[in-house]
Amino acid sequence: MADQGVNPGRRRFLTATTAVVGGAGAIAAAVPFLASWQPSARAQQAGAPVTVDISKLEPGARLIEQWRGQPVWLIRRTPEQLAALEGEAPRLRDPNSDNLEQQPEYARNMYRSIRPEIAVLIGTCTHLGCSPLFKPELEPQPFDAQWKGGFYCPCHNSRFDMAGRVYQGVPAPTNLKVPPYHFADDNHVVIGVDPQGAA
Ligand code: FES
Repeated sequence: MADQGVNPGRRRFLTATTAVVGGAGAIAAAVPFLASWQPSARAQQAGAPVTVDISKLEPGARLIEQWRGQPVWLIRRTPEQLAALEGEAPRLRDPNSDNLEQQPEYARNMYRSIRPEIAVLIGTCTHLGCSPLFKPELEPQPFDAQWKGGFYCPCHNSRFDMAGRVYQGVPAPTNLKVPPYHFADDNHVVIGVDPQGAA
């Protein structure tokens, strides 16, 4: 028999030692795996919320911030620009933000924003990702004789109004995206976090 001559007490000791060493080895092997699985500090930073001070943002002006590697536009719209949004619906592809992918529920309104005057938009054309130009003037443009202010993408002539809503007859299929955001106070917008209690 294989057990002949083996002290049973010593065999138990050896078995236990092997199990402990095996367990330690498994833990040692798992540590590098866990370390590589954790997002790096840089990756965490890249996905972190960004707080923007809008106290110096003038009416009609735009600030550009970076969030998750994307440009985010913050614009303080004038009363004239806000009023112009009301008449644009017949020329737009998705005036009521029916495409739910393009904005959080709390930005699903005519202004596509929490506060009417402050627009927060991802500044990437929804066609092929160019950066549209900011054209806030309410006056005829070479690319649109009825222009009421908005964004013009020169790559393939897509147009968006001052709420980032796409016009009909252009290659961009959807409205510009609205990122998750909320107001920490009157002058600070936090990009990347929904308002408390938002669905
Ligand atoms: S990328 Fe903007 S129109 Fe094509």
